[in-house]
Amino acid sequence: MRQVTPLSLTMAFSLQLSVVLWSVSFTTAQWCYQGQYSCNATCSDPSVWFTLFPNCGGDRQSPINIVTSKVRHDPALTELHFQGYHEAHDVTVENMGHSAHFTLPPTLRLSGGQLPDTYKALQFHLHWGTDASPGSEHTLDGERFPMELHIVHIKERYSTLEEAENDTSGIALLAFFFEESAEDNTHFAVVAEGLGRVRYTGNSSTVRAVRLGDIMPATEELHRYYRYRGSMTTPSCDQAVVWTLFHRTIPVSRRQLVTVSRELVFWTGKPMADNFRPAQWLNGRSVFRSTADPVLPSAAAAWLCVLAVLGLHWNVH
Ligand SMILES: *[C@@H]1O[C@H](CO)[C@@H](O)[C@H](O)[C@H]1NC(C)=O
Ligand SMILES: *[C@@H]1O[C@H](CO)[C@@H](O)[C@H](O)[C@H]1NC(C)=O
Ligand SMILES: *[C@@H]1O[C@H](CO)[C@@H](O)[C@H](O)[C@H]1NC(C)=O
Ligand SMILES: [Zn+2]
Repeated sequence: MRQVTPLSLTMAFSLQLSVVLWSVSFTTAQWCYQGQYSCNATCSDPSVWFTLFPNCGGDRQSPINIVTSKVRHDPALTELHFQGYHEAHDVTVENMGHSAHFTLPPTLRLSGGQLPDTYKALQFHLHWGTDASPGSEHTLDGERFPMELHIVHIKERYSTLEEAENDTSGIALLAFFFEESAEDNTHFAVVAEGLGRVRYTGNSSTVRAVRLGDIMPATEELHRYYRYRGSMTTPSCDQAVVWTLFHRTIPVSRRQLVTVSRELVFWTGKPMADNFRPAQWLNGRSVFRSTADPVLPSAAAAWLCVLAVLGLHWNVH
């Protein structure tokens, strides 16, 4: 008769346990941001997103660092047309576990500015830091801004984001950087308040009478922007995005920034902060600007000034 020794029992047990642990960690592998990672909540941080989502390892990824001296002027980048952005709508805000999405009605239409089609809005969300530390996804000459607003649109003809992700220009994303201001931004207050009501993953709430156009800078100030082709900045990182990043920033007070970064928690239970993806390689892509080199107007102004001074001089004599 064979004897079952305690040692072989232990070995069999530990083997089974490790198989169970391995399959648990394998099947619960989810993506997360760097700051979310902890020993008892293993997840895939941005450096390994591509192992779960192959698109994240593609060669047209976002965000990027924009090197302004290398940006090329494209005169075809004319004004964008915003339709319905100033109408008031009740919007739903939901904690998605990595950010919070504010759903937008498809009556908001975006066109012009060399976009290949008319797009309809789906949702907007933000990326931020810790307290008031920088948390934008895109950077400008290496500078990270306190926060970044993303407004997600899909081509009018599609009914879901998934359909649009299948088209290399299926998604139009508008991005705005925030800049710290001394005063609270009263238009932004409704957004901060909405975030305060959806602390945990899956929590949702209705924010009344939101006018997206009031949160964005005035339309007349939106003719200056950068344009490039990239991806969604969260898995599955689909390379289907026409990006438009505006020069004009949105003001936000330090107090409001601190509030935003303390209101929510990630799906792992950690405070939702630093929810931005690091900059990705350009891989030969070009970034374009809608307006001519800003050095030219100021150089022209300097010459006008010199001429005016000379003119004054000649008049005196
Ligand atoms: C994506 O495109 C492929 C090939 O054209 C198609 O078979 C598939 O159904 C599309 N997926 C979606 C979600 O539209
Ligand atoms: C928010 O989510 C938590 C955790 O799932 C749940 O316990 C709580 O009831 C939710 N709160 C609301 C207002 O839905
Ligand atoms: C991880 O472990 C710490 C310390 O034991 C605990 O406080 C925390 O709630 C745990 N987090 C999760 C997501 O289980
Ligand atoms: Zn985003």
